[in-house]
Amino acid sequence: MSKCAVIGGGYVGLATAVTLTHLGHEVTVAEIDPERLETLRAGRSPILEAGLEERIAQGLEEGVLSFVSKSTEAAPEADFVFLCVQTPMGSRGRADLSYLEQAAAEIAPVLAQEAIVVTKSTVPVGSSRVVERVIRREDVKVVSSPEFLQEGSAVHDSLHPTRIVLGCDDQTAVAKVAALLEPLNAPIIVTNSPSAETIKYAANSFLATKISFINAVAAVCEGIGANVDDVMLGIGYDPRIGVEFLRPGPGFGGSCLPKDLGAIKASAEDAGYRFELLDAVEKVNDQQLDRIVNKIARHARPLNGSIVAVWGLTFKARTADLRDSPAIEIARRLRERNAKVVAYDPTVTGPAPELEGIEIVTDPYAATIGASALAILTEWDEFRWLDFEKVESGMKHAAIVDARNLLDPAPLRRLGFEYEGLGR
Ligand SMILES: NC(=O)c1ccc[n+]([C@@H]2O[C@H](COP(=O)([O-])OP(=O)(O)OC[C@H]3O[C@@H](n4cnc5c(N)ncnc54)[C@H](O)[C@@H]3O)[C@@H](O)[C@H]2O)c1
Repeated sequence: MSKCAVIGGGYVGLATAVTLTHLGHEVTVAEIDPERLETLRAGRSPILEAGLEERIAQGLEEGVLSFVSKSTEAAPEADFVFLCVQTPMGSRGRADLSYLEQAAAEIAPVLAQEAIVVTKSTVPVGSSRVVERVIRREDVKVVSSPEFLQEGSAVHDSLHPTRIVLGCDDQTAVAKVAALLEPLNAPIIVTNSPSAETIKYAANSFLATKISFINAVAAVCEGIGANVDDVMLGIGYDPRIGVEFLRPGPGFGGSCLPKDLGAIKASAEDAGYRFELLDAVEKVNDQQLDRIVNKIARHARPLNGSIVAVWGLTFKARTADLRDSPAIEIARRLRERNAKVVAYDPTVTGPAPELEGIEIVTDPYAATIGASALAILTEWDEFRWLDFEKVESGMKHAAIVDARNLLDPAPLRRLGFEYEGLGR
């Protein structure tokens, strides 16, 4: 059994912590946000992730998981310290490394002899060197190990990683981290830290490219009478392509893809290369938001002064995360065109800074009363099973813009709805 510290109790930190306790290690998580810390200490999860709360409660009960407010309390005893703090988008698209540098500076004087620091946060090329420079300890090695989990399945993804990337020039440190994580039975890729850091950004850029690609294909399908859902299956079954991240929608968002695209473009620019392919990926993503707003406007007739009902605010289903959600940006653009937006999302019950100007209701039907159009912006499964007769009877104008191709158009049209999806 090893002693581990995890700095940052967010999506990555908590998934890492419960994975390490699952492997039989003792874990102390440092979380500076007092509200988050209190929730964690009470055995509850501050984020919506399947299986997380149970594992936190179990870890506390068994005495193998604990939560503290300071990294300096978590780090001293640890053989391995996992840095899992946020690296948000800073100025001109660059990653803001201040949280990472701060965490590294905090732990530097208290780390045990020969401790290994594992960077799980997504950081641009060269950042492991930044952490090494901040820590400035010959005996402490820094291993870059980017995280690939997806929100909504964070615990599962962390317990069953598709691969583990370890970037470090010190083979002894790599071997120790590999031995710690080996029971997860994932392929382990050992490389240097710039490659490890590039792997994470390249992976997210590729996923974003797939989303923009299929959204562009959906636009073509609309013009020529093709069905993008069939096209998606037809190309996705090709193992060289794959169906994942090939669903048309309102575009990519969330806390990772937009910022990681900005960061790899900035790194490329520093290296003297203009990553124009990703400029196009971002442009298509932005156009997609307008394409959906225009669809809603066409059906609301007129948008100006009308109520638009929105179902779904999170950036994707099975998470409560609102960061950089395309749904919220669409709502903002609707309001800019003078529509009143009334929204329902199963995970949103109260006001949040991101939701300013949007009326939030806690019942999907309440959102549609008097609305001139209903926009489905997040793919929550429960939206499929609602009573659409009831929805139709309450709306001023029965029109649905389904930006996730979630619903079956035929029964809705029979009920009298105007229905428009994406690329079909
Ligand atoms: N969310 C994802 O799906 C995901 C997936 C893969 C990689 N990542 C990357 O992992 C990193 C973390 O992402 P996240 O979504 O878990 O972030 P998050 O914002 O959910 O969590 C970070 C946590 O760290 C805490 N924190 C910050 N500084 C601290 C300090 N000095 N001491 C103790 N706690 C501190 C914050 O209060 C916060 O709770 C980012 O670099 C992100 O890009 C995220």
